[in-house]
Amino acid sequence: MYTQSFNVQEASGQKKAPTAASLENPEFQARFDRKIDADGKIEPQDWMPEAYRRALVRQISQHAHSEIVGMLPEGNWISRAPSLKRKAILIAKVQDEGGHGLYLYSAAETLGTSREQMLADLHSGKAKYSSIFNYPTLNWADVGVIGWLVDGAAIMNQIPLCRCSFGPYARAMIRVCKEESFHQRQGYEALLVMMQGTDGQKAMVQDATDRWWWKCLAMFGPPDTDSPHSAQAMRWGIKRISNDDLRQKFIDATVPQARVLGVTLPDPELKWNEERQHHDYGQIDWDEFWSTVNGNGPCNKERLATRVKAHHEGQWVRDAALAYARKHQNVNLCGTDQELRSNFALSSTHSGKEAA
Ligand SMILES: [Fe+2]
Ligand SMILES: [Fe+2]
Repeated sequence: MYTQSFNVQEASGQKKAPTAASLENPEFQARFDRKIDADGKIEPQDWMPEAYRRALVRQISQHAHSEIVGMLPEGNWISRAPSLKRKAILIAKVQDEGGHGLYLYSAAETLGTSREQMLADLHSGKAKYSSIFNYPTLNWADVGVIGWLVDGAAIMNQIPLCRCSFGPYARAMIRVCKEESFHQRQGYEALLVMMQGTDGQKAMVQDATDRWWWKCLAMFGPPDTDSPHSAQAMRWGIKRISNDDLRQKFIDATVPQARVLGVTLPDPELKWNEERQHHDYGQIDWDEFWSTVNGNGPCNKERLATRVKAHHEGQWVRDAALAYARKHQNVNLCGTDQELRSNFALSSTHSGKEAA
């Protein structure tokens, strides 16, 4: 999901990128600048300034981490979904988020960082992910509200990234945005059904909306005045719309949806401003946001522990996938049935360690 807003500084631990091509060079720099000015795409094999490369690795890896950590709060509800239909939809959504992580780790790898390093940084707590996932999902309405608001905010954030200057990131975002659209719609539709139900169900939807609204507004990141890296990211064509402008677009789009749904957004200062042609809104609690970013949210420790456990428990899947890929690589290199059989036999004797 979730990107530039939580592009906070961290010790990246990234590998040093490819050598000669990344040395600072005025001629290469001028060519790079011309391409950026012409709204062209920078590809992995192109020369790029080291700062541009580092900024992208930080942003794309944080985005990838957010996708896979984002699977956890909703994954908890797969076994408790209220019907087979809702369970199938939720499984598809959570699986999509895993796929988004895959595209994004792959895009970051083209910049000279390894997936192992990125995951090691996530698991050690060095790397950040979106703070929105450090809050609990208390009831079934939370799953609907996450789709409606969290995925809705993600779409608002990510549509401009389809025009990002770095080609692999921009192309990954096109597919991601299509899938996020399904995520937003399934959440909103689940809530519409609940709002036609009992008073208890309606109260659940309102309660979940109350708990998630302000956190979703914070997802767009600090106000523009406190976002020192934004200007450079805009210059490089990584970021296209400022945090405050995206937040405003999200609020303006969401208010009529809340009205149709029949819930009240928990902000007494939220009202249409005829002069600005936008909604005014109240103060976001940035102290709470930074406290959660810095590891003190209600679920930070739990999420990280679950992620590390899932990684260890998935080792055999990675080993099997690598063995399978190696087997097919051998098949492509060798043509006869005899060679094929012997290659299969050889690869079946690979230990997990060898395969990795
Ligand atoms: Fe996603
Ligand atoms: Fe999503």
